[in-house]
Amino acid sequence: MPDLYCVFGNPISHSKSPFIHAAFARETGEALTYEARLAPIDGFAAAVAAFVGEGGRGANVTVPFKEEAFRLCHTLTPRAARAGAVNTLSFVDGRILGDNTDGAGLVTDIVGNLGFSPAGRRILLLGAGGAARGVIEPLLTTGPAALVVANRSVDKASLLAEAFADLAALDACSFADLAGKSFDLVVNATSASLGGEALPLPAGIFAEGALAYDMMYGRGDTPFLAQARAQGAARCADGLGMLVGQAAEAFFVWRGRRPACAPVMAALRAALAG
Ligand SMILES: NC(=O)c1ccc[n+]([C@@H]2O[C@H](COP(=O)([O-])OP(=O)(O)OC[C@H]3O[C@@H](n4cnc5c(N)ncnc54)[C@H](OP(=O)(O)O)[C@@H]3O)[C@@H](O)[C@H]2O)c1
Repeated sequence: MPDLYCVFGNPISHSKSPFIHAAFARETGEALTYEARLAPIDGFAAAVAAFVGEGGRGANVTVPFKEEAFRLCHTLTPRAARAGAVNTLSFVDGRILGDNTDGAGLVTDIVGNLGFSPAGRRILLLGAGGAARGVIEPLLTTGPAALVVANRSVDKASLLAEAFADLAALDACSFADLAGKSFDLVVNATSASLGGEALPLPAGIFAEGALAYDMMYGRGDTPFLAQARAQGAARCADGLGMLVGQAAEAFFVWRGRRPACAPVMAALRAALAG
C-alpha cells in the first residue's frame, strides 16, 4: 500500500498540491498518494485525527489552519516555532511534528530559480500576516543589508519587528512611511492581490535593477506585479515557484528525497496559461 498524505484547507478544491506531489512521487519513485481534504472551519483537529486514524503519514496545511496546526503539534522545528505557523505535519508514533517550509520555498525560488542574491541588498517585505512572519528568518539568513516590514496596520508590523529583534534590527512602518526609500527586493506578502486591490506604494521604492516578488500567482501579472512594473521594477516574479519550492521542501521532510521543481513549475505555468 502506498503511504498516505494530504493537504488540509478550507476552501481546498483549488489546491495544486495534489498535482505537485503526484509529480514528485512519479519522478522520485516514492510510493505515496496525496489528496486534498476539506476540513470544516471548526473541525481541523478532528479532521487531522481522522486522517491519522486512516494511517496518514503526513499533511500540508493551508489557509486558514496554519496557526491552529502550530498549536496542535507536539514538536516543532525551530523554523516553525519562529514562524508561529505550520504548513507541514508529520505523524510519527502517535506524535505530531510540525514544520514550516514556506520561507525555504521563497528563498529557493528567489536565489535558486531567479538567480537573485539578497546578500548586502535592501529588502522590503509588504504585509505582516502569517506568510510574512514565516519568511522573515529565511530572508535574514541570506544576509541582506536591511529588512523593512511595511503593513497597512503598522502595529502588526511593529510586533513582527519585535518578535525577530534578537536576529536583526528590522524597521517597521506604514506604506506612506516608504516615501523617499528604495529597495532591491520587494516581496508582497499581503493578500491585497486576492481582492484585485493595488497597494498605496509611494513612487520610487524600486531601486535600479530591483526584483518585485508577489507571493500570489495566477494567469499573467498579479495586481501587485502590474503596479510594480508601472513603478519601474526591473524584474517581476509571482509566487508559483514559492508554491512548488515549499512543496519540494515538505516532500524532503517526509521522504528524504529532493524532487526537481522545474518540470512541475513548467506544467503548472502551462496550465495557468491554457
Ligand atoms: N506562493 C505561496 O506558496 C504562498 C504561501 C503562503 C502565502 N501565500 C500568499 O500570501 C498572501 C498572504 O497570506 P497570509 O497567510 O499572510 O494572510 P494573512 O495572515 O491573512 O495576512 C494578510 C496580510 O495582507 C494585508 N492586507 C490584506 N488586504 C490588504 C489590502 N487591501 N491592502 C493592504 N494590505 C492588505 C494584511 O494587512 P493588515 O494586517 O492591515 O490586515 C496582512 O498583512 C496570500 O495571498 C497567500 O495566498 C502564498
